[in-house]
Amino acid sequence: MGRLLLSFTLLFYTFSPINSDFVIEGIRNIQKRSTGKSVNDIEVYSVIISSQVTSRFAHNVITSRAVNRADTSKEAIFNVDLPKTAFITNFSMIIDGVTYPGEIKEKEAAKKQYDKAVSRGQTAGLVRASGRKTEKFTVSVNVAPESKVTFELVYEEMLKRHLGKYEMFIKVQPKTLIRKYQIEVNIHEPQGISFLDTQASFLTNNLKPAIEKSFSGEKGHVSFKPTIDQQRSCANCTSTLLDGDFTVTYDVNRETPGNIQVVNGYFVHFFAPPKLTCVPKNVIYVIDRSGSMWGRKMDQTKDALYQILKDTSEHDHFNFIVFDNNIIQWKDSLVKATPENLEDARKFVRSIFPRGWTNINDPVLKAVDLLNKAHENKTVPERSVSLIVLLTDGEANSGESNPSKIQENVRKAIQAKYTLYSLGFGHGVDFPFLEKLALENSGIARRIYEDSDAHLQLQGFYNEIANPTLINIEMQYPENAIADLTENNFKHYFEGSEIVVAGRVTDNDLNSFTVDINAEGADEPKKYTENVPLPSMDDVSKKQQYIFGDFTERLWAYLTIQQLLEKRLYADPSEKANLTAQALQLSLKFKFVTPLTSMVVTKPEEKEKEEEILIADKLVDGQDRFFSNPASLQSYPSYQSTSNYAYPSYQSTTNFVDSDPHFVINVPEKSDALCFNIQEKPGVILNLIEDRQLGIAVNGELIGNKKTDKNVISRETYFGRIGIVNRALKIIIEVTTEKVTVLNHKNRETFLWQKTASLSEEGFNLEVIKRSNVTFSFGEGATFVIILHEVWKNHPVHRDFLGFYTLDEHKFSEGVHGLLGQFFHGIDFEISNVHKTDNPDKPDATMKVKNKLLTVTRGVQKDYRKDYKNGIKVPCWFVHFNGEGLIDGTHADYIVPDIFSIAY
Ligand SMILES: *[C@@H]1O[C@H](CO)[C@@H](O)[C@H](O)[C@H]1NC(C)=O
Ligand SMILES: *[C@@H]1O[C@H](CO)[C@@H](O)[C@H](O)[C@H]1NC(C)=O
Ligand SMILES: *[C@@H]1O[C@H](CO)[C@@H](O)[C@H](O)[C@H]1NC(C)=O
Ligand SMILES: *[C@@H]1O[C@H](CO)[C@@H](O)[C@H](O)[C@H]1NC(C)=O
Ligand SMILES: *[C@@H]1O[C@H](CO)[C@@H](O)[C@H](O)[C@H]1NC(C)=O
Repeated sequence: MGRLLLSFTLLFYTFSPINSDFVIEGIRNIQKRSTGKSVNDIEVYSVIISSQVTSRFAHNVITSRAVNRADTSKEAIFNVDLPKTAFITNFSMIIDGVTYPGEIKEKEAAKKQYDKAVSRGQTAGLVRASGRKTEKFTVSVNVAPESKVTFELVYEEMLKRHLGKYEMFIKVQPKTLIRKYQIEVNIHEPQGISFLDTQASFLTNNLKPAIEKSFSGEKGHVSFKPTIDQQRSCANCTSTLLDGDFTVTYDVNRETPGNIQVVNGYFVHFFAPPKLTCVPKNVIYVIDRSGSMWGRKMDQTKDALYQILKDTSEHDHFNFIVFDNNIIQWKDSLVKATPENLEDARKFVRSIFPRGWTNINDPVLKAVDLLNKAHENKTVPERSVSLIVLLTDGEANSGESNPSKIQENVRKAIQAKYTLYSLGFGHGVDFPFLEKLALENSGIARRIYEDSDAHLQLQGFYNEIANPTLINIEMQYPENAIADLTENNFKHYFEGSEIVVAGRVTDNDLNSFTVDINAEGADEPKKYTENVPLPSMDDVSKKQQYIFGDFTERLWAYLTIQQLLEKRLYADPSEKANLTAQALQLSLKFKFVTPLTSMVVTKPEEKEKEEEILIADKLVDGQDRFFSNPASLQSYPSYQSTSNYAYPSYQSTTNFVDSDPHFVINVPEKSDALCFNIQEKPGVILNLIEDRQLGIAVNGELIGNKKTDKNVISRETYFGRIGIVNRALKIIIEVTTEKVTVLNHKNRETFLWQKTASLSEEGFNLEVIKRSNVTFSFGEGATFVIILHEVWKNHPVHRDFLGFYTLDEHKFSEGVHGLLGQFFHGIDFEISNVHKTDNPDKPDATMKVKNKLLTVTRGVQKDYRKDYKNGIKVPCWFVHFNGEGLIDGTHADYIVPDIFSIAY
């Protein structure tokens, strides 16, 4: 099959009345969010999750209801994590009987509406963030005293078969006791259900009776309805047990290899042949051993490779290419997986030692060359599958480093003969590049998250491609009667997966049609034929009593959009515009929130006539790479480090802001740090330090990524320009990614980053270190460093940017302010209630700071002063919502009109 089957996750939180983790971008007219003791003011009294699955197509509705029992308005937050593969189709809020519906619009139009609301001073919020397998949907709304609110979110997705089953992995985290909490899953599978299972990680004996499951024939049902007492973590407790994973898995009968559903003129064809002999594989593992793989990443890679070697069948052939800026080839040619060769391979894997830079081009071309030779020389069986598995944790920075050039070289070399899979390990990878590289060569790209289970993620990936049973599968439909077919030729079918093809029946008079499936098996060609009777209207309406009627059409649209979006990733520009237009048209017609559309919700605000425009977007994977956004915040608790990490965590000795912009506040008294980030638009200028008494101000201007594709709006911003004003010395300094300009008594001095230089004057020193950093000191006790981050010149997305660090700040007056300045004279905080979240490395906790209680998340940020390439990890407590509650006022208070703004 052309692409692999992903496992599916449906995570959801219900809405929680306390501060919760989500991002609101844009300017907010902050209603002081109540914290801590308001827990009982907003009561969530009902949460119902209802899923209806018809022939793998899942239609999910989440309904949450709450009431404000306080005598003032309170903010209710609705927080759902949905699978990345799902499309939101509707969202609405009902407040005091009035429905505020979501409206799906072209992304650009939605953005205009959003910008207009911002410019009119109306509050505007943006609600999304991405997690590992899920993306977050969050809305908050003010609820008047004694008023009720209902949130309803609808999303749809196709469940893909993966290792012999369809899976819904549900994370349940209501955070409080809920009078009516209910999960209801109804499955209708025309092939008949062969098994149906549920697991819940939080299950206790007390909770078990709350789960019901049954299946018979075509129908399956799962429900989970814990009473409020069953939800309690102990007899009289007010905390909830419901915190963990809830999984529903099932499969359908495989008596026939295929099944075709036709409803309302659209058909969907599912094809999964019964167990066949595996086709031998020829695999070249192309493994990155560049310096940044050092430590845990390499250990995990080796662990995964040992396991993969253990699982390799004797009829397979394989070889290793290990690369940094050099290439090491294990054997001269592919070798058979005999016990001796496997033992030899294990020794080789053990000897891999990280070093050097990253050259992706040459090792991949080498792999193609090895496969070519193996086929020419007939060292591998004629009927076999040839795969290249590329694993890297970085971007090409040695040899050919232009991504488009690498793509072209690889595509030309492979000539559609082999399949390339790319595995991007950790945050430093250029995932969009890896994705294109794989998709162009009929593979897929997979992210491997830097985490304790990375080796399992790698093995899991291998298991999916371990057992190809058919190759070159062609699904042939009658051309004159069928139109708008989705992908119908597939390179491989892997055991345990399923091929899905959908299309439209154009001939209304047809009583039946025939599908021919031709493929190559391990030993011989395989042919399957399916005859599909077209149902009469009677049959259809009978069925519709228990299915939702247009599911074939929606499934067709879902598949078509997914495939158009994928093709668009590597299409040439002329074709790309057409693919984009088609995908957009379908997204609007079928009301899907895809990467091309947004959903706009106009939400009422407490103050009369004010409204807030909320926009729900679909994230594009890869946008959050390189530097973390709050949800993808890479994190390791400080106590975790035991083995040989490449980049030790350490106690920060400075306050700084770097990357997209992450602020890190050093708290030496606690041997710890606090961090937050500011989500604002490119062009916005933020005040970092302002000391009116000393007459010093530092401001930074945000820049965005390069616009590679105007339909992909990246939210990442960095500092591209920093202005420093010293009124007493009459000095104005501008630092950009090109140069440092000092204006001093009308003299202008310019220092380019290409040269080391220095300047020394009364009360002022400057030192530029070539292509690295510039240090400024204003007499004793006020020293700053600005670091230049260079990305390679042809980088498709990123631009060069700056990081700002204070080395010495004791000269500043008591009144010093600004996003960094306000912390120069210390900040005290208390952490309590550290509790795990779905990411074991990112526990949440309650932080008491400035007499407020905030929910914070353990994370890490990076200090790039000593290690330019990778940074040194600084563990910190991440404060959500643009640092709200930690910083004085709101982040919007720090927006200044000019890079040299200073208050008098
Ligand atoms: C979205 O949901 C609301 C509330 O249930 C409903 O009134 C509206 O018709 C739905 N919109 C669409 C397009 O289905
Ligand atoms: C729970 O509360 C009831 C009434 O206040 C009390 O009688 C009972 O002993 C409590 N049970 C536990 C286990 O604390
Ligand atoms: C074929 O295999 C032989 C023996 O392993 C080797 O010497 C020769 O170079 C190979 N030919 C090609 C084209 O790779
Ligand atoms: C895309 O191109 C095809 C012809 O190649 C054309 O029929 C179709 O209308 C185009 N679609 C859009 C939305 O531009
Ligand atoms: C500036 O960069 C140089 C060269 O990379 C480095 O040795 C030095 O420590 C840096 N200075 C500061 C203050 O970070």
